[in-house]
Amino acid sequence: MNQQNSRFSRAWAFVIGVCVSVLVVGAASAADGPVKLQTLRGVDVSVNDPVGEGTRFGPDTPVLPRDFVQQPPLIPHTIEGYLISKEFNKCMDCHSWARSKEANATKISITHFKTREGAEMSSVSPQRYFCNQCHVSQTDSKPLVGNTFKPGAGLR
Ligand code: HEC
Ligand code: HEC
Repeated sequence: MNQQNSRFSRAWAFVIGVCVSVLVVGAASAADGPVKLQTLRGVDVSVNDPVGEGTRFGPDTPVLPRDFVQQPPLIPHTIEGYLISKEFNKCMDCHSWARSKEANATKISITHFKTREGAEMSSVSPQRYFCNQCHVSQTDSKPLVGNTFKPGAGLR
């Protein structure tokens, strides 16, 4: 029993070891290539990335419909090369209240000024600073898993 247990745990140590090395090698090589598509479920994504070139952005379109009232609107334009760092936010060049008119872009809504503690800021809240956490640009890719979602009643 004990022997079986230790054989079992050695097998696991090996599996975990392999996973860690794959992660380390993966992290090292990720730095110099395009972002590779992958899913947590291990679904084959090659249909959407046949030559492994990473994300391709779709063409710019008019504003896209929303499927539920609280949805972060989808980004209808490319965001290739748009930097968001601690010092600089490219999105705010067009979507800040000061710049939106001249850029002809929707200005960020007032919800974007509220901090986690409920304080109202005069510029975008740290909670909403990293736009791509919630807003995503579009690409012409096949769904990797099925879904039966229907738009909310208020939007049908
Ligand atoms: C060069 C100016 C510019 C930059 C930079 C820019 N956008 Fe936009 N964005 C626009 C314009 C113009 C529209 C379309 C507005 C319209 O057609 O009413 C738009 C539309 C959007 C919309 C849809 C709004 C809606 O009401 O449906 C979202 C979301 C958005 N952008 C997010 C972003 C994010 C996130 C970034 C940064 C990664 C970004 N944008 C950078 C100009 C810009
Ligand atoms: C935590 C999620 C989150 C983050 C981060 C976030 N947004 Fe939003 N955004 C939303 C949601 C949800 C909505 C729709 C409801 C609302 O207006 O709050 C929205 C709405 C918008 C709209 C449409 C406003 C309107 O009046 O219809 C624009 C434009 C926008 N966001 C741009 C941005 C930009 C630019 C950033 C980064 C500076 C950003 N958002 C960061 C969740 C987020």
